[in-house]
Amino acid sequence: MTFGAFPFTLASSASNLGERVDSVFIGLTLFAGVIVFILAVLVLTFVGMYYRKTRFSRVQPLTHSNRLEIFFVVLFGVIGLGLFFWSAEVYSDIERPPNDAMTIFVVGKQWMWKLHQPNGREEINSLHVPVGQAVKLVMTSQDVIHSFYIPDFRIKQDVLPDRYTTLWFVPTKAGQFRIRCAEYCGTDHGEMTGWVYAMDPADYERWLSASSANAAPIGGTPGYANSTMATQLRNTFNAAGCIACHVPGASVRAPRLDGIWGNTIRLQNGQTVIGDEQYMRESILFPNAKISAGYPQPSLMPSYKGQLTEQQLRDLVEFIKSIRDGWPPEATTRPSTQAVPANGEDHP
Ligand code: CUA
Repeated sequence: MTFGAFPFTLASSASNLGERVDSVFIGLTLFAGVIVFILAVLVLTFVGMYYRKTRFSRVQPLTHSNRLEIFFVVLFGVIGLGLFFWSAEVYSDIERPPNDAMTIFVVGKQWMWKLHQPNGREEINSLHVPVGQAVKLVMTSQDVIHSFYIPDFRIKQDVLPDRYTTLWFVPTKAGQFRIRCAEYCGTDHGEMTGWVYAMDPADYERWLSASSANAAPIGGTPGYANSTMATQLRNTFNAAGCIACHVPGASVRAPRLDGIWGNTIRLQNGQTVIGDEQYMRESILFPNAKISAGYPQPSLMPSYKGQLTEQQLRDLVEFIKSIRDGWPPEATTRPSTQAVPANGEDHP
């Protein structure tokens, strides 16, 4: 599965975005190829015509044709803009994961990839995904900059310490595909590889339930494997102390957490931000970075930087996502019937 001399050995892609990325790639290459061809022909023609020993007339004054100039400017302007809008559309689709995508957290460290399935199962240097399902990777690094790269899916994204970056894809065929690190990250950068296993949805379900039955999550909190994911998330939320201020009815006036996920949030400085994983992570680690409209600056909340493990951060983010449509009754300090509807602009 390598990229060889284009176009003869371009491995066929195995994701929804792959064909579109390939079309842009081929389109740009053809466009550039045609230009190079035209220029080369013209250069060689004129070299031939005006070669010193030819008897071609050299006395004609230079003239130019406005019509020809306008024609070429307009032609290439239109083609260039067309290529721009075409590739921008593909790019923006790559940048915007669909809301129903299944989330897999990825942590890069020197020199391995740790991946976290939705049911709590962790994998090292391997990623099992069901064919036909949108998968979103939410990625961060424990040390230096890495880059998560799946050549057969035509996707690649830098993985940075202290923040989340995302990638998404829909695997379109079952099979085994290389994961690589595409950012030089130290001695064993070249070894920082793994495999994506794109499976039939039924096979994936079987794999997932088998793995959760006989394998405790690597690095999980003790007792974790026995509790359901939802309980785990809420335990982390309570243990981290978020429960003191961020539940409906708390005595401290803190921004509401339900309805953050996927919504537009108004900030104190008049800007807005989308409530995605990166926003949640940033607000937990750096509470002053983006203050919600109507709340004091500096924030009353202490920074959690250095206080939480990647797993706890992930739990908090997943918990906040899970309460998008309201709090579970047990997690609130007053009856959930009084919870205010979960959208609108008054969110943090
Ligand atoms: Cu990690 Cu290169």
